[in-house]
Amino acid sequence: MSFWSNTNNDNGSDGCSAPPLESSSTWGAGYLIYLLFSLSLPTIIYSALYLLPFVVSFFKPVPDLKKKYNAKWALVTGGGSGIGKGLVFGLARMGLNVVIVTLPDPTLEPLLKKLRETFPELEFRAVPVSFSPNVDYMAPIKKETSDITIQLIFNNAGFIVTGFFEATDEMKHLMNLECNARAAVRITHHFLRILVTKKLKGCICFTSSVAGYIPTPFAVMYASTKAFVSQFSSCVAIEVANLGIDVCAVHPSPVNSNFYDKVEHKIQLMEDAKKAAVEPDSITGDIFKSIDSWYLRDLGAMAIGTRLGTSFIPYNFFTGMFAAAAPFLGDYKTHNAKRG
Ligand SMILES: NC(=O)c1ccc[n+]([C@@H]2O[C@H](COP(=O)([O-])OP(=O)(O)OC[C@H]3O[C@@H](n4cnc5c(N)ncnc54)[C@H](OP(=O)(O)O)[C@@H]3O)[C@@H](O)[C@H]2O)c1
Repeated sequence: MSFWSNTNNDNGSDGCSAPPLESSSTWGAGYLIYLLFSLSLPTIIYSALYLLPFVVSFFKPVPDLKKKYNAKWALVTGGGSGIGKGLVFGLARMGLNVVIVTLPDPTLEPLLKKLRETFPELEFRAVPVSFSPNVDYMAPIKKETSDITIQLIFNNAGFIVTGFFEATDEMKHLMNLECNARAAVRITHHFLRILVTKKLKGCICFTSSVAGYIPTPFAVMYASTKAFVSQFSSCVAIEVANLGIDVCAVHPSPVNSNFYDKVEHKIQLMEDAKKAAVEPDSITGDIFKSIDSWYLRDLGAMAIGTRLGTSFIPYNFFTGMFAAAAPFLGDYKTHNAKRG
């Protein structure tokens, strides 16, 4: 006789008896499922909200940005190579004239020649400047663009400084800060003010990085500037969204560009990432697709995997785990041997 049946009275009446064993176990299983579902609900909602825009983007055609913003001119910083060069060609294919702002470089003239030959009906201008502290790079940018209206702005120029933070010259860090973050702020401020004053539509896109949303030792300034840029982009986006100005930051997975060649202190993790790098042109369409429908876009498997794999870990805990594990990493050991 079961425990439950003991509670029945003699005449078989069970007005206040417990349910039979079978229904109680069904109730228990039901409760467990409900509990598990409730606990996993935030994960389900997060994953759906995170992944749904990817599905939409997959089926969305690359927008005609010239038509969308009724624009004639775009500006791309770091347009001389890699991702930026891909953007320049992509914009030109849409029929947009482009201003390329990049380091004075011997490759710049041949690039302009090629662009002018490929798109004879369009105009291309170059502003060879270095985004460095104590360089007045805004003056030539303003001068070269004073007679045209830029409606599409791509803050893409950037580089990485590697090694332990204190072991690298302060000036190198400040140059990194200037190029990756401060120049983007100044350029955005200048051209956004014009767009708002003239009541024009347009877009501003930042090439940020996965390093901006995970703690990144050995590239402290790079990761910090990219975190800044993504946050800056999101904040500005909210202010101007209702004016028809789209602001978006993209976080590409490794891209096969000069980015890796300029690294002073080799980082094995970067060398490994480079093996999975895609060609710059292959992400141009996705960047264009992101501009009017995303605020922060993770591009490619590594960026998406890193976001999904880390977003549930409290940042403090993540940093602590990383700090505890770092001394066992090959890169840490290599650089630590030369430290101090
Ligand atoms: N490659 C990747 O795996 C990867 C991944 C995530 C994010 N990103 C980001 O993507 C952006 C583009 O990088 P990329 O991969 O295309 O590398 P890249 O080929 O080295 O392009 C960087 C561009 O920025 C310009 N530049 C560098 N320092 C500058 C300075 N101080 N002042 C003015 N212009 C400067 C470079 O000019 P020169 O051509 O004259 O050197 C080049 O045109 C960067 O912001 C980078 O952080 C890259």
